[in-house]
Amino acid sequence: MKKVFSFLSIVLVTVCAMAQVSYDVIPLPRSIELSPKGEVFQLQQGTVVTYPGSNEVMASNAQLLAAFLQADAGFQVVPQADAKPAKKQIIPITLSLGLQSENHEAYQLTVGKKGIIIQGASEEGVFHGIETLRKAIGTEAGDIVELPYVTIKDEPRFPYRGVHLDCARHFFSVDFIKQYLDVMALHGCNNFHWHFTEDQGWRFEVKSMPELAKKGSIRKETVIGRNSGIYDGQEYGGYYTQQECREIVDYAAKRFINVIPEIDLPGHMLGALHVYPELGCTGGPYDVWCQWGVSADVLCAGNPKTLEFLKKVLDEVADVFPSKYIHIGGDESPRDRWKQCPKCQAKMKELGLTREAELQTYINKELEAYMQNKGRDLIGWDEVLEGGLSEKAIVMSWRGSQGGIAAARQHHRVIMSPNTYCYIDYYQLKEQWYQPLGIGGYLPVSKVYSFEPTAELSEEEAKYIMGPQVNLWCEYVAYPEHAMYMLLPRLDAISEVQWMQQDKKDFEAFKNRLPRMQKLYDKLGYVYCGKYE
Ligand code: ACM
Ligand code: ZN
Repeated sequence: MKKVFSFLSIVLVTVCAMAQVSYDVIPLPRSIELSPKGEVFQLQQGTVVTYPGSNEVMASNAQLLAAFLQADAGFQVVPQADAKPAKKQIIPITLSLGLQSENHEAYQLTVGKKGIIIQGASEEGVFHGIETLRKAIGTEAGDIVELPYVTIKDEPRFPYRGVHLDCARHFFSVDFIKQYLDVMALHGCNNFHWHFTEDQGWRFEVKSMPELAKKGSIRKETVIGRNSGIYDGQEYGGYYTQQECREIVDYAAKRFINVIPEIDLPGHMLGALHVYPELGCTGGPYDVWCQWGVSADVLCAGNPKTLEFLKKVLDEVADVFPSKYIHIGGDESPRDRWKQCPKCQAKMKELGLTREAELQTYINKELEAYMQNKGRDLIGWDEVLEGGLSEKAIVMSWRGSQGGIAAARQHHRVIMSPNTYCYIDYYQLKEQWYQPLGIGGYLPVSKVYSFEPTAELSEEEAKYIMGPQVNLWCEYVAYPEHAMYMLLPRLDAISEVQWMQQDKKDFEAFKNRLPRMQKLYDKLGYVYCGKYE
């Protein structure tokens, strides 16, 4: 009886392990061709992962694959450069380059007699194949994983696949940002938009102005709830040293994620104005804000010191962040102070400007020329359209898609992150009481999934859409667990918008793919919203 029972349990365990592998991962690869004969390849513990030894990036890829399988499933594979097949050697996992494709992110993943082969059009493509393989294997490998023979051919739809995090309203640790990058990479996202200067705190170290982060990062206290007028009495602060920023940049680069820093200007600047009140139209004094909303106090556009200050900041931003794109914000910058300010009005006269909005364009153009000299392109929120757009600016559409549509029609590049589909600080369930306090709004995962970033555009105009991005503003999100809850599963949804061809998307099928992903989240300790609407 005992024997029968242990035999049965072996069968059950094996069946479970087999049932676990599925290539229906998120985002779903472009083409998955299972062998009609249903053969399986047995991947064994201790299998070698071979890669071209002269290539450090491929070595890093192999190490990451090993780390992923270990963390996800306790399954061990061993990176080995240029492994030569020896007699009786276990058939390896092979990582290679040389796939012919116009898309450098393309990869092909084959499972067959020769084992598992991931071939990429670049190292980046190989990395995407690695993420697909780990998601296919999932969490419950035994000593052997049985993988059905398959040929997967895959590449992303959009070259830009962004995720934003507001680390200024609340400060998140370097460790948490690494986790955020991990979960981005798991979903094939490749641009991390790091928002770290605000009215409520300046969180980027500028070595030439050490007081800026030291003092500008600290607010005396924080309002409770939605600007209730009651404050918590707790000093709040935190900033990122340049060394920490570089650590984040390196960590992201290994996962083929570009880090886009945002210095939000000329508004959202009380963190800096607190330290340098002479940069404001009224001269201050200014406090780092302890409440939420849009402050009327902004940088003075008529004071030459403002541009000097911004250039000094951007010098160091460019030094720390290799990103081709640097974000200069530009949203929600009221122009009331500029209307009243003699310096701003004099500047308008000097430049022959008739509208205050054009003063913002003046600042943007100055900074654009400055940053073009460093080989960088600027991104701005869609308000940058209002005073006439500087020549090469990339528009990030947030007040709906209309700004993005207008910019694309003017042949400007566009990132689509409309609040209507991409603001994951909004509630995701109708029943608000069920969720932590949030900013409001309602953005269920189904709505994120339904987003079409090129809607209303002709084929020609659509070429200017670099890709979609979700934004996580953190006025009400103070802890990592809450941030993850807001992110998942809406990140899953946007990842299919970012990655898949429009006609292949299917929300019902997507929902069936989610539980396996969520097993992985459980294993990795990622909090998520388990209910979806
Ligand atoms: C924004 O949400 N203020 C860009
Ligand atoms: Zn002024």
